[in-house]
Amino acid sequence: MNILVTGGAGYIGSHTVVEIAKSGHTPIIVDDFRNSRESAVDGIESILGYRPTVHAGDCTDPTFVESVFSQESIDGIIHFAALKSVGESVERPLPYYQNNIGSLVAVLEAALRHGTKAFVFSSSATVYGEPDSNPIPETAPRKQATTPYGNTKQIGEDILRDTAYASNGLLRSVSLRYFNPIGAHESGLIGELPIGVPNNLVPYVTQTAAGLRERLTIFGNDYPTPDGTCIRDYIHVVDLAKAHITTLEYLFSEDVNKPAYDVYNVGTGNGTSVQELIETFERETGVKVPHTVGPRRAGDVVVCYADPGKMNRELEWKAEFTTSQAMIDSWRWQRNLWFTS
Ligand code: NAD
Ligand code: WQD
Repeated sequence: MNILVTGGAGYIGSHTVVEIAKSGHTPIIVDDFRNSRESAVDGIESILGYRPTVHAGDCTDPTFVESVFSQESIDGIIHFAALKSVGESVERPLPYYQNNIGSLVAVLEAALRHGTKAFVFSSSATVYGEPDSNPIPETAPRKQATTPYGNTKQIGEDILRDTAYASNGLLRSVSLRYFNPIGAHESGLIGELPIGVPNNLVPYVTQTAAGLRERLTIFGNDYPTPDGTCIRDYIHVVDLAKAHITTLEYLFSEDVNKPAYDVYNVGTGNGTSVQELIETFERETGVKVPHTVGPRRAGDVVVCYADPGKMNRELEWKAEFTTSQAMIDSWRWQRNLWFTS
């Protein structure tokens, strides 16, 4: 199968491109490199031994998207291309609506015109907001989004659902709700490339360990959790990448009972606190992470971890990597970045 991967040079996209190729399909990357570098494609090439096709351009541009679809024969789409900084989306909402909704609509329109059968959308656990209980099943209510970024994911899910149902079964689609992706490919050749000061915990940990940041601030240790710090479901990016292949193969299968649209959580089912994550990093790498405790970060959910049972049962996918392995892989990637930059 030929799989179009929008945002294929980004963090999750690059790992997914590798897994697509490893599973015998052909990845076709579309990216305008607004939050990635061409060196990610070099990394993919080094891992695979060949360079995948790349179409450089903006997915919100219908003319560009149409030109890609008319040059390639596309069987399935994984749509990663989006802006993802939650805090920035509060300060500058319009680019988030323009890009995250605009790119989805442009790609879906082309998919319908060209008869593409399968579509996987990058959604997020952020659609659950502050959950009533944990672990969170897909049946938990989507709370009113508290950020424009979160709203683009809720709206994106709805656009996809409506489009899939209106296509009379021609387009089958799934929204994958990712929990917290971390880690990097075992080769150390691809990984997360935060531009500027990282917002997320793990890149901040690795940059602090590398001496690029003076110290990490733990955002609050007075939460109602065992050690007072927030709890998340950290999933290795390679496990997450593989979940996309499993989902595509499910969408391509002949099962007539499949709904036109469905939603799956992608998480480990384990909750890890900020304090535990730092301790795991220090234990696995032998490198200390200078840190201090600061005030709570506005908008942080206290506890958020997945019930991955639906994905485990229906798609036979299960997370395999440990948090320890993710820390080792993140550190290898950070050190490679450090030595090569
Ligand atoms: P990323 O920024 O590393 O990758 C996104 C890629 O899309 C980048 O390479 C960027 O250049 C490209 N892109 C953005 N807009 C584009 C456009 N209009 N046209 C062409 N290319 C464009 O982000 P990521 O962490 O790999 O996230 C991928 C997807 O997963 C996003 O939709 C994100 O919202 C979602 N997601 C991410 C996380 C996370 O914590 N990383 C969690 C849940 C969901
Ligand atoms: C994890 C924990 C912080 C940095 C975000 C988005 C979410 C999804 C994944 C896209 C929290 C704490 C962090 C630091 C800290 N993205 N922390 N010091 O907030 O769970 O999720 O990324 O869809 O939508 O909101 O991830 O990595 O920012 O934070 O103490 O310097 O680490 O308070 O408890 P988060 P994160």
